[in-house]
Amino acid sequence: MRDIRDTIHELNDDLLRIKDKFSTDLEISAFTNLVQKKRGPALLFENPEGYKNPVLINIFGTEKRMNRILGKDLETIKNEISEILELTSKKPGLLDGIRLYSKLKSFGTEAVNSGPVNETKLNGLSEIPILKTWPKDAGKYITAPVVITKDPETGIYNAGTYRMQVFDDETTGMHWQRQKTGYNHMLKAKKMGKNLDVAVVIGVHPAIFFSSISPLPEGINEMAFAGYLMGEKTRLVKGQTVDLYYPADAEIVLEGYVDPMETKIEGPFGDHTGYYSPPEEYPVFHIKRISAREDFIYHATVVGKFWNEDVVIGHAIEKIFLPAIKLLIPDIVDIFLPEEGVLNDIAIVSIDKKYPGQGIKAGMAVLSQGQLMFSKYVIVVDKDINVKDKSEVLWAIATRTDPSRDVVIIPRAPADSLDHASFLPNLSGKMIIDATVKTREEGVVREWPEKIEMNEYEILKGKIEKYGF
Ligand SMILES: Cc1cc2nc3c(=O)[nH]c(=O)nc-3n(C[C@H](O)[C@H](O)[C@H](O)COP(=O)(O)O)c2cc1C
Repeated sequence: MRDIRDTIHELNDDLLRIKDKFSTDLEISAFTNLVQKKRGPALLFENPEGYKNPVLINIFGTEKRMNRILGKDLETIKNEISEILELTSKKPGLLDGIRLYSKLKSFGTEAVNSGPVNETKLNGLSEIPILKTWPKDAGKYITAPVVITKDPETGIYNAGTYRMQVFDDETTGMHWQRQKTGYNHMLKAKKMGKNLDVAVVIGVHPAIFFSSISPLPEGINEMAFAGYLMGEKTRLVKGQTVDLYYPADAEIVLEGYVDPMETKIEGPFGDHTGYYSPPEEYPVFHIKRISAREDFIYHATVVGKFWNEDVVIGHAIEKIFLPAIKLLIPDIVDIFLPEEGVLNDIAIVSIDKKYPGQGIKAGMAVLSQGQLMFSKYVIVVDKDINVKDKSEVLWAIATRTDPSRDVVIIPRAPADSLDHASFLPNLSGKMIIDATVKTREEGVVREWPEKIEMNEYEILKGKIEKYGF
């Protein structure tokens, strides 16, 4: 059994337990915001004012912490995914098969008859210390939910993290955006003229929360992937009022449904962009039953302008999915989604350029892959540029581009729903900047100069050590 209590144990000295009373109305989020900006510890508010149960927050606030609590460290996951993809892309021999099995033996789920999540029943959302994060938020929001639905046609499961505004004790907003899987399940239910069953778990092992946020392809079950990360199959229990299985070891589960015909104004909410996303019509989640552990822990996160947990989560996703991206777009050597680009809006990729126009081709490929489609700016550099070094990237733009030749603008492509700057909701232009070195075949008429390089240490070997440089 793996749960968020293991996380508290594993965090150990990287968790600050706060005994003082803090209000769920702005105080907890304000303190968390200060701590996460300083890359401080995870926080356990043991006495939220007016509530019996604690609030756990900022668990993913640093890469070090993420490596500690995810189950496996990020480098191992990246290498293993790379190995798994390699092994599955060729006809495996016996030894390869054994290697593959050993890597994937915990990938999967296990049905159990009961779990701690069903220990007790709550009367309503007001028993849970849900936070109001920013002064002008429309109210309290559940910010770290794992929203579980099933494709009404195929029965394939999905888990996604979509914020939920508390409307009253038994209804919330369901902010799944147009391009997300939960929304797609709702559309299918609408066509069939029925409501969509939804189970929302809160307070799960970080591997489950992380899987729910990760842009996994639709056929890959998030709970099974979480099992792979945890090193133990995810234990699932059948819902009491919904036809869904959900993690048996969660702290809280909200069982209910979304009526695809119903919407309500949701927002404003202080968002990843650093702005309040404006009020908009979104579906409503009706809660039929709330179950929880006797002494449940409420898990939350503070969404807002960087630096926060989102940044660490985003960089982790970018790191571990690099092998899969490389498989889909073989041109790519490395990728970076800088936090200033709100993780969605700016993608920097490097390529090993071999033919004319490959920079633009790689840019278009990025724009056509999964949630990378939300990028507004794709900057393509050569592999000698470190994509994570913003100075290097700016230098490449300055010295390897002519805007009249190397910038392509694509009008009217899909945009992130949170992008208030796009010319229409959910629709924006895209800019590809090809900052690779240009060749004669690409219209360069002058000789391309050589890059200055010198091995100072080699030249000055034995002469400068005493100076300490
Ligand atoms: C803290 C946090 C809050 C998020 N809130 C939302 C949200 O309100 N709506 C949304 O569509 N995506 C939201 N996301 C992003 C989704 O969780 C992410 O795109 C996920 O891959 C969606 O899963 P899906 O592809 O299975 O729909 C949020 C991510 C994080 C880290």
